[in-house]
Amino acid sequence: MKQGRLGAILLAAAIAACACGSVEPGGAPSPSNRAGPCALPDPPLRDLAEGRTIGTAYRSSFADGDRCYAEIAGREFGSLTTEIGTMTNTVAPAAGRFDFREADAVADAARRNRQDFQIHSLIWDPLDQQVWGVVPEYVRALPDAQRHRFMTDLVTKVVGRYAGRASTVTVVNEPFDQRGTLQHNAWWRTTSGDQYIVDAFRAARLAAPTMKLYLNEHSAETVSDKSNALLALAKKLRETSVEVVVDGRAERRPLLDGVGFQAHMLGGADQQPRTEDMRANLRRFTDLGLDVRFTELDVRIPTKDGRAGAEDLQRQARVYATMAGLCRQIERCTGLTVWGFTDERSWITDYPATFSGYGSANLLDANYAAKPAWNSLRSALR
Ligand code: XIL
Repeated sequence: MKQGRLGAILLAAAIAACACGSVEPGGAPSPSNRAGPCALPDPPLRDLAEGRTIGTAYRSSFADGDRCYAEIAGREFGSLTTEIGTMTNTVAPAAGRFDFREADAVADAARRNRQDFQIHSLIWDPLDQQVWGVVPEYVRALPDAQRHRFMTDLVTKVVGRYAGRASTVTVVNEPFDQRGTLQHNAWWRTTSGDQYIVDAFRAARLAAPTMKLYLNEHSAETVSDKSNALLALAKKLRETSVEVVVDGRAERRPLLDGVGFQAHMLGGADQQPRTEDMRANLRRFTDLGLDVRFTELDVRIPTKDGRAGAEDLQRQARVYATMAGLCRQIERCTGLTVWGFTDERSWITDYPATFSGYGSANLLDANYAAKPAWNSLRSALR
């Protein structure tokens, strides 16, 4: 939020004491969203997607001093996903120390807003983004067998804590490179193969038998070497089961419920994959009895000095609509999660070197005004 804008919002709120959908402590957002600085057209986005959950990644610190962030997230979306709250460096920042404050804050916000709560990315070590420090140094330094033990303990602890509160968890994130080879990252090195993935899922299933367990990957939306490898892994996890107790009865459950396709899309000219190619790929996963979901949808477009052109904004709007429409056509698509909803708070522009020349990836602009994408997504869901 820009300073001037924030000042104007606070002033307007103080003068008007408006009923603009503010969230009372312990209560749900008020139904009206027609007035006030964080206003968007009725009805809220979350009410448009029958049978699907339209969610957003959420970071509690973004709500500090930025009223519209919390208000719009709470009012418009059907689910909140921990953006960083359940990453290893957040929940286990130092040896022997756990910190659930951020994840709890997201869980509490979801409960207050009567939203679904989803936890993201427990076992992840992005080799191309080591600067993010997702796997802390003290974990990397552990001998392989101990790091493996740490991994299963971490999964047990986090998933167990949110059993009954979180509907879904991304147990393993981005295991493959673009050729479909398992990334030789800190977790892979614990078993030198895919056994670490099986073990992480087994720990998650035992910790919360009814939580939906997801495998998550980027750039795997169409048929490719990478999505072929993902499919083979998904099949293996689906075919592996473990005995759990549900409602007092012992039963066997498969290790996998769904596959998340991140869907960090590119909205420049000729950069969007063909819808039929995505549909054909996703069908291979749903044919295994798995749910699918777009888990981190955003659409970055070319920008100059941070500004996008009108044509690119229209193209971006079409991409958002396409992804929503595609999900609607696939029976086992549970919905989509956007990876942030305002250009003021976007991982795409947080790391300018990573996506140089691109930005403006979200549904609302930096002042929380609707971009063409907001309206086209709404139309696609109706
Ligand atoms: C990003 C978050 O948005 C950032 O705040 C954090 O610093 C790094 O991770 N793929 C994923 C997400 O699976 O977890 C990443 O989120 C974006 C790429």
